[in-house]
Amino acid sequence: MTRLTSLKGTLATTFGAAADAYHSAADVQREVASRLARRISGLPLAPQPRVLEIGCGTGFLHQALAPDLTDGRWLLTDLSEPMVRHTRAGLKREDAGFAVMDGERLAIAPGSMDLICASLVFQWFEDLPGSLRGLIDLLAPGGVLAFSTLTAESFPEWRNAHLKLGTASAMRNYPSAKDIAHMMPRDLRVEIETESVPRSYRNATAFLTHWKQIGTHVPDASRPPLTPGTMRKLLRQFERGITVTYDVAYAVIVKP
Ligand SMILES: C[S@@+](CC[C@H](N)C(=O)[O-])C[C@H]1O[C@@H](n2cnc3c(N)ncnc32)[C@H](O)[C@@H]1O
Repeated sequence: MTRLTSLKGTLATTFGAAADAYHSAADVQREVASRLARRISGLPLAPQPRVLEIGCGTGFLHQALAPDLTDGRWLLTDLSEPMVRHTRAGLKREDAGFAVMDGERLAIAPGSMDLICASLVFQWFEDLPGSLRGLIDLLAPGGVLAFSTLTAESFPEWRNAHLKLGTASAMRNYPSAKDIAHMMPRDLRVEIETESVPRSYRNATAFLTHWKQIGTHVPDASRPPLTPGTMRKLLRQFERGITVTYDVAYAVIVKP
């Protein structure tokens, strides 16, 4: 793999360290992958489709999709080597390929894929518009790009709690569903639906511990960390519980 940027090096290490816990603890990610799989299952794909999965994690999307794509020829990839290893060990498929790859720098021939899919991965991309264009180039005519990703409407509870204290959360800024639609070339048919997925935790510490456990706590490095005093005030706002809302966009793009 080519040299990773600092964010990607951190993501590869952090998700790698979480790989074992992720499979049992990542409840929202499991649900979202199965909803994305349901959307993909209804699409007319080429027979024996060549399928590239980006950011396979521990294999939720493959597990949900494989029963409907029994003749698919899969290449499962992730930035993090332990994630790929986990998926490979769980699937025990002789006919699938596995690779450690940055989904923004894929060494794959243009026009060679019938389905490219990714669940809750693109929110980590550094150049989403450029990468989406690159992925569409990898599709054969009639091929499908299908993904879920977090939108700008995600986690308002957490972001607003920071604003109340005169600071900004270190969560990344995600694009809106409209922004995502505008990233696509105009001649493509793009379908985007969004869904709110709320999750409640006993308090803010429990929420942060959960995120740490599954590796999704990598902060935006351009934001300074909170001082201990601000952190205490933040946690105090959620002493009686916290509900955070994941806002998920499901996008399906068919290449003419
Ligand atoms: C939230 S997890 C989702 C995993 C899996 N798709 C699922 O539904 O459970 C994000 C995954 O994306 C991977 N990832 C992050 N940035 C990536 C990139 N640029 N290329 C490939 N994988 C990436 C991480 O290593 C991690 O496994």
